[in-house]
Amino acid sequence: LFAAVAMAPRDPILGLNEQFNADPNPNKVNLGVGVYYDDNGKLPLLACVAAAEAQMLAAPKARGYLPIDGIAAYDQAVQGLVFGADSDVVKNKRVATVQALGGTGGLKVGADFLKRLNPSAKVLISDPSWENHRALFTNAGFTVETYPYYDAANRGIHFDGMLAALKAAPAGTIVVLHACCHNPTGYDLTSAQWEQVVEAVKTAGLVPFLDMAYQGFGEGIAEDGAVIRQFLAAGLDFFVSTSFSKSFSLYGERVGALSVVCSTAEETTKVLSQLKIVIRTNYSNPPTHGAQVVATVLSTPALRAQWEEELGGMRVRIRQMREALVQELKAAGITEDLSFVTRQKGMFSYSGLSVEQMQRLRSEFGVYGVDSGRICVAALNSKNIKAVAAAIAAVKKA
Ligand code: LMR
Repeated sequence: LFAAVAMAPRDPILGLNEQFNADPNPNKVNLGVGVYYDDNGKLPLLACVAAAEAQMLAAPKARGYLPIDGIAAYDQAVQGLVFGADSDVVKNKRVATVQALGGTGGLKVGADFLKRLNPSAKVLISDPSWENHRALFTNAGFTVETYPYYDAANRGIHFDGMLAALKAAPAGTIVVLHACCHNPTGYDLTSAQWEQVVEAVKTAGLVPFLDMAYQGFGEGIAEDGAVIRQFLAAGLDFFVSTSFSKSFSLYGERVGALSVVCSTAEETTKVLSQLKIVIRTNYSNPPTHGAQVVATVLSTPALRAQWEEELGGMRVRIRQMREALVQELKAAGITEDLSFVTRQKGMFSYSGLSVEQMQRLRSEFGVYGVDSGRICVAALNSKNIKAVAAAIAAVKKA
């Protein structure tokens, strides 16, 4: 039966974890996957999460099946966070939100639904994009192409190219956009540029699918979510996948959501009914624990305030690491302009290093980043930063 099965390649991001775990180098540093570690190199358990879990443990509950679309209070909390509880779309019941298995799960539920809705649509993702975007939409049956994004020469965004590609796309094309903290480049559009993107999407009749996995890691929770309000103001129907993996440090709980903004409450009810079929025929219904934790934190004012503070702490530490990386690279003899490192937002820095340099970082120094040159600055700390900078400087010089 399996004789003809070919060996699949390792996942470009999660596959690195396997290689990292197998590496005996005692000084190895994992800057591959997008995970935040504290200054001691530890994955944090947020105090707000621990407090919510203590509350839940004090009154333990049996675990029945959840509704197909998840915990109602969780879906409501997601809508409040993403769109604003007082927003017209939420008040007028124009958003269908389903609990999903992380941000990836939200993307996949949306992709499967879109495939049924418009099977011949193409998908456009940014060049480059998160490695899994192409794979996920391809596996959902779509042809995936790219719109220009990264401008290597200027260390920024090729905005004119992006806009031209969106304007030229046929109506109905699904366009995947990173709401904040672009993965992998770290370069985000300005609000004025977003305005032009929204206009182009509207005029061309495209289907916007926003991926917002890093809300709170750029400028702040509201600031990072501002683009959502720009899409709302334009009166567009659109998709948003969101994740609490990073912002709650709940990676393994797979807590995310898909929200679909519709034109009327009646449409929303129908869309929700279709999303539920996608979920039911994939994994039936979602798990309880992580979503209950998030719902508890977001709906308890003291815990919510604590969460915002803890998320702010992560954001500030990442910024400090960006500044420290620039300083250490300079100290290690790098003379080029490194200001791009502090201009980038979120967990990643697109370093500009080549595949060969990334491979040398791994094999000679035990520093693991993605072959594209993406490094996770959220995994740098005061103990490993000198060694990482020295390793980068070494592969850049030779
Ligand atoms: C990443 O880009 O490293 C994260 O989004 C984790 C993942 O699933 O790839």
